[in-house]
Formats: sequence, C-alpha cells, structure tokens
Amino acid sequence: MTVRVGVVGVGNISPIYLQAPRRSPNLEVTAVGDLDLDRARARAEEFGVPLALPLGELLASDEVDVVLNLTVPAAHADVSLAALAAGKHVYSEKPLATDLSAGRAVLDLARGRSLRVGCAPDTFLGAGLQTARKALDDGLIGEPVAASAFMLGHGPERWHPNPDFFYQPGAGPMFDMGPYYLTALVNMLGPVRRVAASARASFPERVAGEDPSGRRFPVSTPTHVACTLDFDAGPVATLVTSFDVWASELPRIEIYGTEGTLSLPDPNTFGGPVRVRRMLTDDWETLPLTHPHEDNSRGIGLADMALALAEGRAHRASGELALHVLEVMHATLVSGEQGRHLDIETRPARPAALPATLPAAPSDSETREVTP
Ligand SMILES: NC(=O)c1ccc[n+]([C@@H]2O[C@H](COP(=O)([O-])OP(=O)(O)OC[C@H]3O[C@@H](n4cnc5c(N)ncnc54)[C@H](O)[C@@H]3O)[C@@H](O)[C@H]2O)c1
Repeated sequence: MTVRVGVVGVGNISPIYLQAPRRSPNLEVTAVGDLDLDRARARAEEFGVPLALPLGELLASDEVDVVLNLTVPAAHADVSLAALAAGKHVYSEKPLATDLSAGRAVLDLARGRSLRVGCAPDTFLGAGLQTARKALDDGLIGEPVAASAFMLGHGPERWHPNPDFFYQPGAGPMFDMGPYYLTALVNMLGPVRRVAASARASFPERVAGEDPSGRRFPVSTPTHVACTLDFDAGPVATLVTSFDVWASELPRIEIYGTEGTLSLPDPNTFGGPVRVRRMLTDDWETLPLTHPHEDNSRGIGLADMALALAEGRAHRASGELALHVLEVMHATLVSGEQGRHLDIETRPARPAALPATLPAAPSDSETREVTP
C-alpha cells in the first residue's frame, strides 16, 4: 500500500525527505506546503510534486494521508495538532514539541482519533545503530551496566541559513541534538527512569555565518547541558550536549557491559563504525554492518510507519518514544534550574529491532516476524 504524504515546511532539511520515495516505494509525496508558498511551489517543481498548497488546503486535501511536519521546532506541535484535527496521521521532525504539555496534547489527540504519530530521528534504524543493537542483543558485551554519550560542538550558526531558532527555547544542543543521542540510548537500553543535570548558556550572543563581524543574535536557552540518566533497566549514563565547545576527542556513544564495551557511531548518521572490545582483550574490533541503510536515509521511520499502518502493528520511530525523549530533555533543563533529580513518568517500549531487510523490501514477510 502506498501512503500519500503532504510535506509541511520545505526548508533546509526537506530535500532529503522529498527524495524518500526513491528509497521507500511505499511512500508518495503528493503535496507540499509552507508559510512561504513560493518556496513550496519551487520545491514542488524541483521534486516533481503535483500540488503546492497553503497549510489549510494541504490539511484538507483528499490527496494526503500523512502530514510530514518539517517546520521549525516552535511550530511542530501546532502543525501536528492541526493535521490530526484534520484527520491526518503525522510524522514530525524532532523534537515532537518544544514543551512537554504540547507533546502530550499531540499524543492525546492522536489516540482519541485513532491516528498515528511518528517522529524523527530515525537514524536509530540505520545500518550502524541497528548493528550495535544486534550486537548488544546477541550478548557481545554481556549485560549493559553504564553508558557515555557526548555531543560537543560549537553550534550550527556558521552553516545554517536561518540559525536563530537553534538558540531559542525548544532548541539548544539538548532539544536539537539530544533526540539523536537519547533515542539511540533508549533503543539500546530501554527507557529512562530518573534525570539530574546542570546547564548554562556560556555565550549570550551568536554570530550568523562565517564572518566574525556578521549579524549577531541573542541566545535564550542553555547551550551546555551535562546530565546523568538512570535507566529503568539499571544502567547509568552520562550525557553531555553542547554548542559551546570548539574541539573535543570524546567518543559519541559508548555502552559498557559486564563483558566488554561497544563503541557506537555518530547517532546523527546512518552508517558505522560499530566497534567492540571484549573483556581481557587488547584491541578493538570493527563489526561488519549487519543491516542496510548506511547512507542518509531520513524518512525510513516514516516508511516504517506507513508499512506498520498497512500491517496493523506498532511503528518504531513512534510518538511515544519521542514523548519520552521530550520528557527527558525537558527534565534535564528543569533539573539544571532546580538542582535536583527528576523522575520520568513515560515508559515507552524499547522499539523492536529491525530485520535486515526493512523497509527496502516493504512486503518482505520477515518484517512481520518482528511485530512488537
Ligand atoms: N537542517 C538540518 O540539517 C536538519 C537536520 C535534521 C533535522 N532538522 C529539523 O528539521 C526541522 C526543520 O529544519 P530546517 O533546517 O529545514 O529549518 P528551515 O528554517 O530551513 O525550514 C523550515 C521551513 O518551515 C516553514 N514553516 C515554519 N513554520 C511554518 C508553519 N507554521 N506552517 C508552514 N510552514 C512553516 C518555514 O517557512 C521554512 O520554510 C527542524 O525541526 C530541525 O530540527 C533539520
């Protein structure tokens, strides 16, 4: 079954999603929309999309089954709520919402109307992170006991054409990049039970572009967030996300087990390397990738949702997972302000591991064997 997708928000990230039907034949983009209708028209022409529509018309269109929400984070919840109210399933870029109550409202409305909500990131469905997941599930490092995750950089304002939103509430390194790291950790270790953090904004202003005398804009959210995460299953993780660091040699993600250590790839990518060092050995071993989708496959989570709709099973890049990630991110900032641990209420299921064929071969019967 082909699912017809209406894309709302056709800015910087939209081209990779507009190419998703080439990778996933169960998706078809039938309409695009944007606050800037000329931009939508230009994208429609560039990618051969039949309709370029204002938001209201796109949401009312009979040609759209799922709204793919690629707007800026501050608009995510409003656009998703409007799409659900119009009877459309939703797949949103991350984060699900910029505040927890809006994220809950999105899931509540979807549940009430029996509609699906999916959310990026879907990099955890890529070759690298699925290979790591299989290695963990196969017992290569024994039982996981702890983890480290570091996203240390100096922010996106030198390369992104509209960087202001990255430094406003609902973005910053935790809400912008945290979803990759937290989703990867939850995929490996299951949900988080408790959070403690410290946070600061080290620079009150940022400069857009590469010229140091360029346009200055204000920072209104923490840009260095250091946290401790207690997982429900027992492991304890250290996570630091920062837009305040010029250089670092820390790893992206390491999972420490009773019998060894797994080193994971950058969770903002789909490929490897995945490395393991077993207890009492002197060397790291690079594992062969067991799954496909090594290149930039954004939209694979949407393809899985479309397939899950047809098969009547749960999808992996789910709204419940994204709400959990949102609750954890929100808790890190509250903990940083209040100086105390915060308990996490949401407990999504750990997403089912992917078989090696999904969703390149959407009708493959193997996909049904892993129905969560
Ligand atoms: N740029 C990247 O490399 C990247 C990577 C991964 C994820 N993302 C995520 O993708 C989302 C979009 O990022 P971007 O970089 O494409 O931003 P962008 O600013 O380049 O594009 C956003 C687009 O959404 C439109 N828009 C905003 N509010 C709208 C509304 N209410 N209705 C209709 N259109 C609206 C804007 O006009 C703009 O065209 C963000 O959530 C971001 O976190 C971006």
